[in-house]
Amino acid sequence: MNALVVGGAGYIGSVVVEELCRARHSVIVLDDLSTGHRDAVHPLALLVTGALRDRTKLDEVFHTKEIDGVVHLAGKSLVAESVEHPELYQGANVEEGILLLDAMRDHGVRDIVFSSSASVYDPSAPMPLLESAALRPANPYGETKLRFERILEERAALGELRHVSLRYFNVAGASIDLGEDHRNETHLVPLLLDAVLGRRDPVPVYGSDYPTPDGTAVRDYVHVVDVADAHVRALRYLLGGGTSLALNLGAGRGVSVREMIAAVAQVTGRPVPTTEAARRAGDPPVLIASSEAARRVLGWDPQFEDLSVILETAWDWRSRHPEGYAS
Ligand SMILES: NC(=O)c1ccc[n+]([C@@H]2O[C@H](COP(=O)([O-])OP(=O)(O)OC[C@H]3O[C@@H](n4cnc5c(N)ncnc54)[C@H](O)[C@@H]3O)[C@@H](O)[C@H]2O)c1
Repeated sequence: MNALVVGGAGYIGSVVVEELCRARHSVIVLDDLSTGHRDAVHPLALLVTGALRDRTKLDEVFHTKEIDGVVHLAGKSLVAESVEHPELYQGANVEEGILLLDAMRDHGVRDIVFSSSASVYDPSAPMPLLESAALRPANPYGETKLRFERILEERAALGELRHVSLRYFNVAGASIDLGEDHRNETHLVPLLLDAVLGRRDPVPVYGSDYPTPDGTAVRDYVHVVDVADAHVRALRYLLGGGTSLALNLGAGRGVSVREMIAAVAQVTGRPVPTTEAARRAGDPPVLIASSEAARRVLGWDPQFEDLSVILETAWDWRSRHPEGYAS
């Protein structure tokens, strides 16, 4: 298949591209490199540098090759920034996504896999979250993810496209060559690893008075290679005539912040510098996925479920790339 991966120079997108190339698919990456890295793009993929809002660039990409399916991972994903500037998130995550859908329609491309998020759910819904759980995002970032899912549903109902919206929980870990390198990092695992390496200040533990066993927030960590594998499966599912739907991607296991700190200390063999801090607004106590539907529908069978494997791969990559990607 010929796949277009928008955001394929980013953390998750680069591993999606790697998995597609490994499965001998042909890949074009469209990425504006705003948070991604040229060096993260697989050498067999064709990188087109450009932004979604550039319709001429989009047309150029769709003319390069006959595209069979699209994976859309581009967008903004900093929750705190979305609270301060919701209009930026509406623009990047909704309006620019619509430009992509319009271009797909105009070029006769129907199938799209979209990076959605656990943040579309009502955090007070019972855990583990099923796809049928109440949808009520706690922040503008989650609202834009849900809004775009709804646009996909509307267009699917009109017969214009087919989609799989993959609702990721906390993606972590690395492949051999590709890891997490966000210049404005907010994710717990890379923050803790960088603190271990002495590359940043002690990591704040936001809230130790949650109604959880050790008082810290509990999240569901899923390995980036397993997440990437689900994208390849989702594209195949759509190209095989599968119907549109949304699927969770998580490990189905809750890990508290304190458990994560202990696991990082174990894997690295070093102390993990942290400090206590107040809860952050909008941070729910617990988020855990049920991914039974992804297993059933896509035949998804995660290979890297152990927390220690997630951390070992992340640590291995970070130790070999302490500065992250060069570009
Ligand atoms: N990392 C997680 O745990 C997680 C969890 C849930 C959902 N998600 C979603 O998954 C997607 C990928 O996350 P990530 O952590 O890999 O992020 P990332 O920032 O590393 O990757 C996003 C990529 O998209 C590119 N990009 C952004 N805006 C663009 C535009 N307008 N035009 C072209 N390229 C553009 C960036 O340069 C980057 O390469 C995001 O949509 C995010 O909301 C991530």
